[in-house]
Amino acid sequence: MRQTRVHPAQLVLPLFVADGIDRPAPVPSLPGVLQHTPATAAALAAEAHRAGLGGVLVFGVPADTDKDDTGSAAWDPDGIQQRGIKAIVETVGDDLVVIADTCLDEFTSHGHCGVLDAAGGVDNDATLEVYGRVAVAQARAGAHLVAPSGMMDGQVRAIRRALDVAGFSDTGILAYAAKFASSLYGPFRDAVGSSFAGHRRTYQVDPANAREAVREAALDEAEAADMVMVKPAAAYLDIVAAVAARSQVPVAAYHVSGEYAMIEAAADRRWLDRRAAHLETAAGIVRAGADIVITYAALDLAGWLVEAER
Ligand code: PBG
Repeated sequence: MRQTRVHPAQLVLPLFVADGIDRPAPVPSLPGVLQHTPATAAALAAEAHRAGLGGVLVFGVPADTDKDDTGSAAWDPDGIQQRGIKAIVETVGDDLVVIADTCLDEFTSHGHCGVLDAAGGVDNDATLEVYGRVAVAQARAGAHLVAPSGMMDGQVRAIRRALDVAGFSDTGILAYAAKFASSLYGPFRDAVGSSFAGHRRTYQVDPANAREAVREAALDEAEAADMVMVKPAAAYLDIVAAVAARSQVPVAAYHVSGEYAMIEAAADRRWLDRRAAHLETAAGIVRAGADIVITYAALDLAGWLVEAER
């Protein structure tokens, strides 16, 4: 009678590659999640492949001294994210989809997702050119997909153009299409040592706005996104369903750090059954219409799902 089944190949594991560490370092607000060296990130990606996951989503965590106003470490061919992508692709080749988060917030001294104008606001159009540079550096390092997460208007078109001009017409785009200005990214900012203080309400969607979110996804699709994403996921299942209903491309949903941390914290207090809560959440996100679920619990879920099918 079961109507929804989650398959491990639908799951994507986020993965943090950090500069200046010589062994993996735990992220306190994300139990079970580590900052990795390029080598241990590659080993984790190999484990993800063995577990049957569909892909990994790679984030770079630069040294504080490498952060600047424009986030230039994000497109440095020897920057930490590029080194991580290279190490992973050398290990897993084309067996696992390697996705690069394409943004500046980890790399800017101010922590915003774009470059700033004279008044200190994010300059949408100036940021587009920079995103193109970052995406090309990531494609050159071997990323199969780039995933622009800054919510600049026109970012998908600008990146598509930059990739094509540089000869990377086979590199796809997973667009963070409907990304809300959510409180649920808090633990992530610990994971990447973010320098951010403030809000992103000028470029991310108001959590109260459903129609605007659907429109954002439609615009990204029209700009040639190969997949669109809704983020966060579990608190936004209506958006997942609405985007899935009208979208012609695969739909991903990101069960974000705060959503993961809530389950972990409650399970730690024995207020929830960790395994049941993660399985139910993943099933709910897929039931709402997501084809792909990005989750910090991907490896555990894959193991549990295989076990349940036996
Ligand atoms: C931006 C980015 C963020 C996340 C994914 N990509 C941070 C932000 O928007 O503040 C958050 C994911 C999570 O909370 O798990 N590079």
